Amino acid sequence: MNVVLCDDYQQMSTQAATVFAECLAANPAAVLGLATGSTPIGVYENLIARFKAGEISFAEATSFNLDEYIGLHRDHPQSYYYFMHQQLFNHVDLPSQRIFVPSGVESDYGAYCQWYEDRITEAGGIDLQILGIGSDGHIAFNEPGTALGSRTHITELDHQTIDDNARFFQSKAEVPRRAITMGVATIMDARKIILLATGEHKATAIRDAIAGPVSSECTASALQQHPDVTFYLDSAAACLLPAE
Ligand code: F6R
Repeated sequence: MNVVLCDDYQQMSTQAATVFAECLAANPAAVLGLATGSTPIGVYENLIARFKAGEISFAEATSFNLDEYIGLHRDHPQSYYYFMHQQLFNHVDLPSQRIFVPSGVESDYGAYCQWYEDRITEAGGIDLQILGIGSDGHIAFNEPGTALGSRTHITELDHQTIDDNARFFQSKAEVPRRAITMGVATIMDARKIILLATGEHKATAIRDAIAGPVSSECTASALQQHPDVTFYLDSAAACLLPAE
């Protein structure tokens, strides 16, 4: 497990974007695992700038997003499908047929979750996965108590996550209560993982993820058992880490 301390959000975003650029340079047909939320927006902005400068191309790549709210159609402004198109897909050359964002409006989620897993397997597995972290230690929407062996599934959002994400909606009552999410084991199958966090409100989760026991109470702690994971943190997010 590697930890990179960054001066600020901008530097963190640039460094993470460089990891994507290197991945695409090594393998233009790379399979990318993508996240939503506030944290990766700077990375996506940086990737768009590199694409527009002719430095990178997504033309042969494939992407899989981590999660989606249940009940939101893809044209809902708070759906993760909509978010990804606004923040990245509309601005780069990733072909739409190789963009996978879990659907929030399926009728048979048992079959659909397996279908999503099968698409990842069929694509050859995820080469590079970017993650944020919830203030409750979640990765994707694997809330405290989720089995570390879990695969793509439907989950109830934790009250903490509903509170945290209320900022994106008109009111807390509008935040969906359920989501479809890749499981912890799905994420752990990625060949390389980067996790980004800024701000003091993430410090407890970062401490538990890096220095706590591997436990489903902080699903990010499972990353301790991954062979190639790097945390990119600002000093506020890293402030509770024990001195080496
Ligand atoms: C988003 C996701 C979540 C977020 C996390 C942090 O696809 O899977 O785990 O990464 O909730 O969100 P932000 O970045 O908004 O603090």
